[in-house]
Amino acid sequence: AAASSWPKRPPIITVMGHVDHGKTSLLDALRSTSVAAGEAGGITQHLGAFVVRMPGGAELTFLDTPGHAAFSAMRSRGAAVTDIVILVVAADDGVMPQTREALAHAREAKVAIVVAINKCDKPGADPARVRRQLLEEGLELEEVGGDVQVVEVSATARQGLQSLEEALLLQADLMDLRADVTREAEAVVLEARQDKGQGPLASVLVKCGQLAPGTHLVVGQLWGKVRALRDPSGRLVTSAGPAQPVEVLGLKGLPETGDEVLAVATEERARRIAEGRAAQAEARRRESTVM
Ligand code: GTP
Ligand code: NA
Ligand code: MG
Repeated sequence: AAASSWPKRPPIITVMGHVDHGKTSLLDALRSTSVAAGEAGGITQHLGAFVVRMPGGAELTFLDTPGHAAFSAMRSRGAAVTDIVILVVAADDGVMPQTREALAHAREAKVAIVVAINKCDKPGADPARVRRQLLEEGLELEEVGGDVQVVEVSATARQGLQSLEEALLLQADLMDLRADVTREAEAVVLEARQDKGQGPLASVLVKCGQLAPGTHLVVGQLWGKVRALRDPSGRLVTSAGPAQPVEVLGLKGLPETGDEVLAVATEERARRIAEGRAAQAEARRRESTVM
């Protein structure tokens, strides 16, 4: 099928900005809007991402690790999953070195930018100054006819969050994000941990296709079969589609952040691909020892 006929998928959103400008606070505040909307049925899992459902049913997927480190780690591994960066700028502090760095990263990765001017509750807040500074950085803000939206928020006072979510949704609609759900699933590892009772647990973000219990997987040099899937609220689910974060039980080892996950038709094929990769890595290792 043509890409334009694929179903729409939620945008994947990362928060970036200068130290202490409120990235973590903003993510916490956004996460709380999904809890308030009745999303969390069970015990909220830490999956490295969470989903906010908007009135009307549209969803926004937020990556949980702010900052450039995670973003760059994923990108350097070819796992560019972010569609939209929220550039957080504190209203009292303004544009700072890491604001510019974040901007440079976002531009290089060609992802869309939505600006959140944070800490607008503070007495020293000067959002107008921040807008001028952003214009000086060459950001084409909406107010001068550009397409970069700016929203004034306060993460700690929980103000402007709905406007920010609406801006993100509008940006996503403009991007017309779609994914093929019929092909073999592909996902990327957000984080992984060893659980005493359940074995290796991998949080993954689905890119295309559908993951389901019984799916055979290759992850780097590991292989396995999906035994169960859990959504961010801890519920067992029977499938996970594009832009959905989900916890996978059933891998035979711990993958790394940024590893690509591929669904394959049979266990035999999964094992062959994984073993082939392990042999290749071993050959490379020997070669580099010789030289
Ligand atoms: P790093 O991860 O260290 O770079 O910081 P961060 O960008 O995640 O900022 P964080 O959320 O830790 O917030 C830094 C400080 O600013 C904390 O003391 C927050 O309580 C405070 N803060 C964050 N958002 C707001 C806000 O909207 N208003 C006010 N008044 N304070 C805020
Ligand atoms: Na901080
Ligand atoms: Mg932080």
